[in-house]
Amino acid sequence: MPQNSSGTPQNGRNEKALVITVDGPSGSGKGTLCQKLAQHLGWKLLDSGALYRLVGYIADKKGITAPSEIADQALKLDIEFITDPATRELCSILEGQDVTRSIRTESCGELASKVAAIPAVRAALLERQRAFQVAPGLIADGRDMGSEVFPAAALKIFLDADAEERANRRYNQLKEKGFDANLAKIFEEIQARDERDSKRSSSPLVIAKDALVVDSSTLSADEVFNTVLKAAQSLI
Ligand code: DC
Repeated sequence: MPQNSSGTPQNGRNEKALVITVDGPSGSGKGTLCQKLAQHLGWKLLDSGALYRLVGYIADKKGITAPSEIADQALKLDIEFITDPATRELCSILEGQDVTRSIRTESCGELASKVAAIPAVRAALLERQRAFQVAPGLIADGRDMGSEVFPAAALKIFLDADAEERANRRYNQLKEKGFDANLAKIFEEIQARDERDSKRSSSPLVIAKDALVVDSSTLSADEVFNTVLKAAQSLI
């Protein structure tokens, strides 16, 4: 098996590889920030929300509702993430099928939020997420990246924004991608999802105590990127 300089198998977790975690509520701009950071630094990207979306999607498709069976699906998940060279978008391949668009819908976000509240599902995805920690570094996007999955991360960011602003962004994003969207409904869904994500008993959305909080409500994507890059400068 090929080895990297620290002797760790290249496909396995490398605890010496740097990790920057980016946590925060839906629509705070984590996805855009993480994609830019990973591209700029040449690091790997973990979109943990996509994992929960894939579990929600497959459970729904197979009509599975029992928590233990959903967790079993999470454990067996046959997935691959591929970067589209043209758009730089991370594509999700589930059992050989490109499901990137299907898992980005608001209804799949709802399914994801529900399966994410099942402790056995979170446990099933833990090692899979940690395996993304490979040299030279990882940008980890999610809700519990700094608090649970990578507690020893070199830099932890908590990206926040007003719920109204997040709903506006989500609406524009969906419209740009050609999806039908209703702003009032998105706002309601964002509030419901915030509530569920922050009140669940297992790994709720919390600000890790050593996290740098960035409020993106009035910042452009470039301003957020530059703020975080400045904070990361001492690591690189
Ligand atoms: O970031 P996203 O919208 O793709 O995430 C979808 C759902 O998955 C979200 O409602 C909360 C859940 N999630 C989670 O519980 N933990 C994570 N690390 C990432 C996402």
